[in-house]
Amino acid sequence: MSCSSAVDPSACQACRLAEHRSRVVLPDGPREGVLAIGEAPGRQEDVSGVGFVGIAGLNLEAAFAACGLAREQWARSNIVRCRPPENRKPRADEVRSCAHWLDRVVDDWLPRVLLAVGQSAAARLIPPWTGSFLSHVERLLLPETGLPVYRGVPVVPMPHTSPLAWNRRRPDGTPIRELGLRAVRRAVILARDPT
Ligand code: URA
Repeated sequence: MSCSSAVDPSACQACRLAEHRSRVVLPDGPREGVLAIGEAPGRQEDVSGVGFVGIAGLNLEAAFAACGLAREQWARSNIVRCRPPENRKPRADEVRSCAHWLDRVVDDWLPRVLLAVGQSAAARLIPPWTGSFLSHVERLLLPETGLPVYRGVPVVPMPHTSPLAWNRRRPDGTPIRELGLRAVRRAVILARDPT
C-alpha cells in the first residue's frame, strides 16, 4: 500500500481494483441518518464516480422513496470503492484493503443506521449466520430480534437491489423486494427514532 493512498482517497492504489477502475466511487449523501452500504460500484458508478446510480441504485432509491425519503435524504457507500472487473464479487483481500475507508466513514459521519445492501455487505458488517441469507434477514427484521451492531451503529441487512435479485421470488412465492422494502422501512424508522 502506498502512503499517498492513505491521504487521497481518489488516488488509492491499495489493491488490484485500482488497475481496472475509471473512478474511485466515494461515499456521498447526508450524515447522521441512514447510510446504505453496497457491495461495489458497477459500470455506471465507475464511469460517473457516484454510487448507486445504475439499475440497482434506482431500485434502492425507489424503495427509500416508498418509505418517504428522497435520494438527498440518505447516504451511500460500498464495501469496496472501485469496480471489480466484469462486476465480479470483490475478493476478501480487496475488501480488507478498503476496510479502513469504510470504517472511517462510519466513525466520522455518525450514521444512525447502516443498511447492508446484499449478502456481501452484510457479511462485511454482521457476524456470520447459518442458513440462507434471506432467512437471516427475515429473522433479524422480527421486532423481538436485536439488530447486530457495527462500530456502535445498528445494522439492518437487506437483499441486494440488482434486478436479478430484486425481481425474484423466494421459494414460498413471496417477492424478494417485499423483504427489501421491510428492511428499508425498518432502517428509516430507526434513523428517525433510535430508541
Ligand atoms: N451500485 C453501488 O454503488 N453499489 C452496489 O452494491 C450496487 C450498485
